[in-house]
Amino acid sequence: MSTKLIDKLERDRSLTREEWTELIRNRTPSTAGYLLERSQEIRIRHYGHDVYIRGLIEFTNYCKNDCYYCGIRKGNHNADRYRLSKEDILNCCAQGYELGFRTFVLQGGEDGWYTDERLADIVASIRSGWPDCAITLSAGERSRESYRILREAGADRYLLRHETYDSRHYGMLHPPALSAEHRRKCLWDLKDLGYQVGTGFMVGSPFQTPENLADDMLFLTELNPQMVGIGPFIPHHDTPFADRKAGTPELTLFMLGLIRLLLPKALLPSTTALGSIIPNGREQGILAGANVVMPNLSPAQFREKYLLYDNKLCTGSEAAESLRDLKARMESIGYHVTVARGDSLNR
Ligand code: 5AD
Repeated sequence: MSTKLIDKLERDRSLTREEWTELIRNRTPSTAGYLLERSQEIRIRHYGHDVYIRGLIEFTNYCKNDCYYCGIRKGNHNADRYRLSKEDILNCCAQGYELGFRTFVLQGGEDGWYTDERLADIVASIRSGWPDCAITLSAGERSRESYRILREAGADRYLLRHETYDSRHYGMLHPPALSAEHRRKCLWDLKDLGYQVGTGFMVGSPFQTPENLADDMLFLTELNPQMVGIGPFIPHHDTPFADRKAGTPELTLFMLGLIRLLLPKALLPSTTALGSIIPNGREQGILAGANVVMPNLSPAQFREKYLLYDNKLCTGSEAAESLRDLKARMESIGYHVTVARGDSLNR
C-alpha cells in the first residue's frame, strides 16, 4: 500500500492529508528503502552527484525570543553571548571565498542590535566585495519593510523555518508572543519580495504527530519554496525541553526522501543536526536526496557559543579543516563538493 502512495507522490507531486499521514505513520524499513531509492534517483536526475556548500556565519547568539527548544533562547542565562562586527563578518567571507564558498549565509538570533541600517550596510558590503556570490540571510522574523530594505541592499535568499504548520503544536514549542500565522506571513512576504526562500521544520520535536508532519508537507506543497531545511530535534540541557527525546535519524531521512519527491528541484541541506546525532548523518542525508551542506565559517572562538542543541558538530575545528573533512566524506559516497552559487532549479 505504502509503495503505491510513494509512486503516486512521485507522479502527482501531491497527496491528501490522510495519505501523507498514512505514509508517515505506517512506514516500515522496506517502504523506507523503496522511498530512498526513488529520492536518490530523482536527486541525481536533477543535480547529478554535485553537493553545494554554503558558508555559514553565525553572526549573533543574542535573541529576544524564548523558544522552548532552542539553546540560545533569551531565558538561557548560561549562554555566553557574542556578536560579530562587520569586520569580523567580512573576514569570514574573505576566508570563505578563498576556500571555494560562493554562498554566504548570515544566521543569527533575533538581535535588535542589527537594525535594518546596520544589517543592510553589512549586506551591501558583502554584495560589493563578492559580486559573484549569493547572500543568504537567516535572521528570523522582521517586518516586510525590513525584508525589502535587505533585499535592496543585495540579499538573494532568506531562510526561515516555519517549524511546524499546526498552530496548536506551534504554541507548544513557542511562547505566546510567537505564532505560526505570523511566521508564515513572513515567508509569503519574503517570497513576494523576490527572495529565494527556504523554510523547514524540526523532525521529532516534542508533541509532534504524523498529522503535524502531514500538515508540514501540505504547507510545502502550497509555498513551493526553493529550499527546505529539516533536521532532528535535539535537546539542549539549558532549555525547558532538556529531558525530551531527540528526533530519530530514521524519520529525518524518511522525511527528506518525501520532500525530494514532492519538490524534485529544491535545494535540500543535509543538516548539521542530522550530522550531530549519528556519525555519518550528513552522508546519509545526501544519499536520501539532500544536495547541500552548510559548513561553519564562524571564527572558531565563537563556535561553541552558538549552541542551539547539545553535542553540535564541528564546534572545534577551523573552517579549512572541516571543509577538507567534508569533501572526503562526500567523495567516500561518490559525491563531489562544487564551487558554485548553487541556485535552485525550483524557480
Ligand atoms: N534541535 C534541533 N534544531 C533546533 N533548532 C533550534 N533549536 C534546535 C534544537 N534544539 C533549529 C530550528 C531553527 C534552526 C536555526 O535551528 O528549526 O529554525
